[in-house]
Amino acid sequence: MANTRGLEGVVAAETELSLVDGERGHLVFRGHWARELARSRSFEDVAHLLWTGRLPAPEEAAAWQAQMAAARTLPEHVYRVMDALPAGLDMMSVVRTAVSALGAAQDWPPSLADAIRFTAAVPTIIAYRHARNEGRSPVAPRPDLPHVANYLYMLTGRHPAPDHVRALEAYLVITMEHGMNASTFTARVVTSTQSDMASALSAAIGAMKGPLHGGAPAGVMDMLEQIGTPERAESWIRSALARGERLMGFGHRVYKTTDPRALALRDVVTELAGEDPWFSLATQVEDVAIRLLEEHKPGRRLYTNVEYWAAAVLRAVGIPKPLYTATFTASRTVGWTAHILEQAAHNRLIRPQSVYVGPMPAAPTTPEEA
Ligand code: SDX
Repeated sequence: MANTRGLEGVVAAETELSLVDGERGHLVFRGHWARELARSRSFEDVAHLLWTGRLPAPEEAAAWQAQMAAARTLPEHVYRVMDALPAGLDMMSVVRTAVSALGAAQDWPPSLADAIRFTAAVPTIIAYRHARNEGRSPVAPRPDLPHVANYLYMLTGRHPAPDHVRALEAYLVITMEHGMNASTFTARVVTSTQSDMASALSAAIGAMKGPLHGGAPAGVMDMLEQIGTPERAESWIRSALARGERLMGFGHRVYKTTDPRALALRDVVTELAGEDPWFSLATQVEDVAIRLLEEHKPGRRLYTNVEYWAAAVLRAVGIPKPLYTATFTASRTVGWTAHILEQAAHNRLIRPQSVYVGPMPAAPTTPEEA
């Protein structure tokens, strides 16, 4: 029985939700190219596609958007739970706690209504706590605004710029779903025990929180801030790699070429960036990093992953760095809930094996010993 470290290459499920083709650098959501969806469809449309298997018809779009908007306000006790949390608690811990508080009932099987409820709630959770952290009065969700515009509005209290909405929407769409990544696998394992959606999502958020998974965009920003100028890139990266550090935003368990989402988001930032010197720095650091990673780990095929240019988009639209991973969570809640529904529909308890490598006791001398 093989022990596959990190379950690399192990197929854990069949899914109709997405294809992540690591050799070709292709990403497909339910039969559609994800990059095309990110360019042309709304958050609500692609959530509908992932949850139901089809995009909403034009005549359905307004009612569908209103249905998602109606789920943005939280039950009163969830606000109270957030107010009781210590100041300075990181946003992912706040989101994990508030999502857990949202799901009091033991609901089986989970429903599309549950998926909508949690997906609509996460932006409100983030924006409410962010405002309280800043000593501002939180603004209520605006049902007249689409999902992404409402998120930016709740974060700032001001009507968002259309180009910021479009850029953030492209990011949130293209990061919605990504096959059997660590947090999605976590959600499916919890669901396979017939536990409830809040428990599966709370566990998935815990997995997403880690720097090897969803925590990378903030690490990308820290790296670029520390490098500071294109001239310092080579020396900074060389010493980081020599210390055995991992460059945030590079490498991927599945993609052995550039992550297609990174390409899509670099296009988004290019449109937004104009002459921003920060964009030029990011571009030059990327080139140096790819070259030095190949030198450092020959043949490992370590390329740019989604997080590198995700950090650039989030910075360009004004999302504060402490909210980067929580914003990724707001997007991936769609993928998680879609996998939860799929797991529940064809459920079997997920229970892999392990190989015992510990010491064995002496042979039993009586039947009761063994
Ligand atoms: C996401 O799975 C998904 O789909 C995730 C995601 C999604 O949408 O859900 O795509 C989102 O998580 C993107 C990845 C974000 N994380 C980072 O950017 C953190 C930096 N990247 C790495 O830590 C790493 O590349 C992983 C964790 C992403 C993937 O690691 P693997 O596949 O387990 O590879 P590995 O750890 O076995 O590394 C192979 C070798 C190692 O060297 P050896 O010790 O074997 O000699 O490559 C090295 C690693 O040290 N390496 C890196 C590196 N990534 C791998 N060295 C320096 N910098 C890096 N970024």
